[in-house]
Amino acid sequence: MDIAVLGTGSVGRTLAGKLSELGHVVVVGTRDPEATLARGESDAMGNPPYSVWQADHPAVRLAPFAEAAVSGELVVNATGGGGSLDALAQAGAENLAGKVLLDVSNPLDFSQGFPPSLFVKDTDSLAEQIQRAVPAARVVKSLNTVNCKLMVDPANVPGDHVVFVCGDDEQAKEQARGLLGELGWPAERVIDLGDIAGARAVEHYILLWIRLWRATGGPQFNITVATP
Ligand SMILES: NC(=O)c1ccc[n+]([C@@H]2O[C@H](COP(=O)([O-])OP(=O)(O)OC[C@H]3O[C@@H](n4cnc5c(N)ncnc54)[C@H](OP(=O)(O)O)[C@@H]3O)[C@@H](O)[C@H]2O)c1
Repeated sequence: MDIAVLGTGSVGRTLAGKLSELGHVVVVGTRDPEATLARGESDAMGNPPYSVWQADHPAVRLAPFAEAAVSGELVVNATGGGGSLDALAQAGAENLAGKVLLDVSNPLDFSQGFPPSLFVKDTDSLAEQIQRAVPAARVVKSLNTVNCKLMVDPANVPGDHVVFVCGDDEQAKEQARGLLGELGWPAERVIDLGDIAGARAVEHYILLWIRLWRATGGPQFNITVATP
């Protein structure tokens, strides 16, 4: 499948690399490819410059957001939450119309330092804002509750831990579940939270995720949901 991954950070790279390895034709979206490739410094998290990753992944093309979006049958939003609406505006609503838009972003606000707060919450969510901004796209929220390495390698953590999907379009959720299956998430470990308002819950979960990160000493963990 042709897949556009919007975002050049660790999440975009990790998903793009894995999806390409699985045989998909992947285009990564960025604001300005030349500027992205010209960056010579590691980012704040110590990730090497995009050009280093690109050299190791020659099959993955880098393009402006709109060109990437045009290329994808399915589009992943892996941009920073605060920039997601801008990034999707640049991608172009017309280029996203009718497509599954898998949103893995989180609405983190670091303006007051660490830990971050959420810049949208309670009665709304970033995924709902995105769905309103691109009404003809079929937004599915998923994978935002796990670290990117775990997104593409769930077996890295033992046990029947889970991820979630939510969205207004049932077929879109089925397509997203198919992709999750390819990434290693079996159907019984993908919990459907219902419509896109379910994103309020999984986006709030990040506050717990950050506490668990500190408590467990690293980002490679996940939760299970036990029932009788
Ligand atoms: N790190 C994880 O393991 C993890 C796990 C779950 C969810 N998430 C979420 O996944 C998303 C991506 O995280 P990340 O750490 O890989 O990357 P990030 O540093 O949060 O975001 C980088 C991407 O966002 C784009 N961007 C930032 N501001 C923008 C703006 N104003 N307009 C347009 N584009 C903008 C950048 O564009 P350029 O390419 O042009 O610079 C870049 O592609 C975030 O929402 C994060 O909360 C992360």
